[in-house]
Amino acid sequence: MDSRERFLRACRRQAVDRPPVWFMRQAGRYMAEYRRLRERFSLLELCQRPDLATEVTVTAVERLGVDAAIIFADLLLPAEPLGLKLRYAAGEGPVITPALRDAADPAAAIADLPAPEAEALGYVSEAIRRTRAHFAGRIPVIGFAGAPFTLASYLVEGGASRTFVATKRLLWEHPAAWAHLMEKLCPLLTAFLADQVAAGAAAVQLFDSWAGALSEADYRQFVLPYVRLIVAAIEGLGTPVIYFSTGTAGYLETLRETGASVISVDWRVDLAAARERLGEGVAVQGNLDPAALLAPPAELRRAVQRVLAAAGDPPGYIFNLGHGILPETPVENVRAVVAMVQDAPAARPRRESAEGM
Ligand code: CP3
Repeated sequence: MDSRERFLRACRRQAVDRPPVWFMRQAGRYMAEYRRLRERFSLLELCQRPDLATEVTVTAVERLGVDAAIIFADLLLPAEPLGLKLRYAAGEGPVITPALRDAADPAAAIADLPAPEAEALGYVSEAIRRTRAHFAGRIPVIGFAGAPFTLASYLVEGGASRTFVATKRLLWEHPAAWAHLMEKLCPLLTAFLADQVAAGAAAVQLFDSWAGALSEADYRQFVLPYVRLIVAAIEGLGTPVIYFSTGTAGYLETLRETGASVISVDWRVDLAAARERLGEGVAVQGNLDPAALLAPPAELRRAVQRVLAAAGDPPGYIFNLGHGILPETPVENVRAVVAMVQDAPAARPRRESAEGM
């Protein structure tokens, strides 16, 4: 079974020889090869030059031996076609100007945003084409985009936020303006992901990193309907969607309503309980704590074994972290986790293991 087949079968809840494994942020500053490239090129150059994005993507896969290649890009790239200025400031993270929170009239500022064409982000699809060709189809390429809430939170706050107060105020005080913003982002994100699928992405991941900042009621009203639109369009192409969020364990069952083939869960929920609550109709991805990659070897091994045991036998499981790799992570530890997952015994049907006793 090659990596592409193993990964796609897991997305579709079919039996596999062992769980597929890949990592969010598997290309990045923790890797010396990446840091060397970053001395010569900005993050935006790495994202926007398909030759460089392909090199970064491929290097991470080959160094780690993982089963999937997430295309090297960034969640905030759509800011530019929306007519906003995007820069990554050393030490303070991404900065988007002007931030919608600073607008005297947010509804007018949202109405004034151009309705952008996904072609402006065509460099991501080109990198997917090249990465797929490099691996001759044996390693699945995962495309991605930010989910509308998480992307919007950066546009509103102008960068990272701890409390998302400006975003919450916008959606509570100006619900029509929020709907308008979502109606601008959804077609762009859908077309962007569909282009990535046309370029050969085997699956796409929708990053809703900060959805867990919202109550379930707000999630249902202001987020879920828009996620459903995007997921339906991409799943309708026959391509699995992985829906990723963090801090949403309190309303995990609601995430099933996104319609995504795969739900990615973080480490704040026990994986066995998550699988139970999500039921058999959906595959699950996760959920090692990224900080476990900084733990002593014996503790890291225990943590990985705990995740694998909690994932259990039912088909439809992809090994990953609950969030991205941290910059201070030793590459050797990531490689060690890949080896542990790849040595994991094939998931046997329960009946067979019981009878064998
Ligand atoms: O996973 C991969 O290997 C693909 C690459 C990838 C990047 N960003 C490259 C990147 C992916 C999947 C992302 C997604 C992303 N970007 C998210 C969602 C995932 C998550 O972690 O929640 C978010 C919220 C962003 C926005 C973003 N980009 C932030 C907040 C930052 C600054 C914080 C940081 O980690 O530095 C970035 C910069 C960024 N995007 C880096 C990389 C490798 C590091 C910056 C650098 O090289 O200088």
